[in-house]
Amino acid sequence: MMQVLVIGASRGLGLEFARQFRTAGARVVATARSEAGLSALRALGCEALPLDLLDAASVAGLGWRLDGERFDAVVLNAGVYGPRTQGLESPTQDDFDTVMRTNVLGPMRVLPQIEATLAAGAKLMVLSSMMGSIGQRSSTTGWLYRASKAAVNSVLRDAALTLGPRGITCVAVHPGWVQTDMGGPNASLPPERSVADLRRLLARLTPDDNGHFLNHDGSPIAW
Ligand SMILES: NC(=O)c1ccc[n+]([C@@H]2O[C@H](COP(=O)([O-])OP(=O)(O)OC[C@H]3O[C@@H](n4cnc5c(N)ncnc54)[C@H](OP(=O)(O)O)[C@@H]3O)[C@@H](O)[C@H]2O)c1
Repeated sequence: MMQVLVIGASRGLGLEFARQFRTAGARVVATARSEAGLSALRALGCEALPLDLLDAASVAGLGWRLDGERFDAVVLNAGVYGPRTQGLESPTQDDFDTVMRTNVLGPMRVLPQIEATLAAGAKLMVLSSMMGSIGQRSSTTGWLYRASKAAVNSVLRDAALTLGPRGITCVAVHPGWVQTDMGGPNASLPPERSVADLRRLLARLTPDDNGHFLNHDGSPIAW
């Protein structure tokens, strides 16, 4: 049976990953930071673990809860958007801290905790965003979010350099513009479609893909 870990699965894409992996018969360990999120995951038949990326003790707790686990796939999904700016509007210190601590420090804390749960053949998918691409940038909306996703892409590259030689394939992905709380109702893709694409992509990843930044359809995105 496939063993999967989804980080940040209370709603949106994370919850949809948990749902689709369960439907496909996988054993799913998934995290949420609220009781409502944990209950939603248990209702899907997932093993639900508490995790708040903003809390170092909570991330350390995840490490010991995962002791002895071996996952075929880990999806690092949790993220926040922050202020919906258009141009060069300075973020408040609080907004900067929340977005950077969630989207960058969070993965930098979680990756060392889950490293031992990944063995040769396993896959790590980090939910980045096209908005983090510097090479394909043509808009300035949400520049704090963009900066955070560019930074987590750097984190993913370091994970790929560390884990790739052990046979673990690590990728950053763009899920499309998706109808979630973050993407809003006018987004182009329903979560079911985005996650189906991402699961297909995950299934066909090979070690040659290690360290790549990929769209949900599998096409490469410039860093
Ligand atoms: N939707 C899009 O169009 C789109 C496009 C590109 C990339 N993405 C990326 O895809 C991922 C999922 O996005 P989404 O659209 O599903 O967003 P969403 O609906 O806003 O859900 C975000 C998820 O992240 C969790 N989260 C936020 N802060 C957390 C923290 N401190 N600790 C633990 N979990 C935390 C949330 O948990 P709570 O319920 O507890 O808040 C929720 O489960 C994100 O990384 C996002 O940047 C989304």
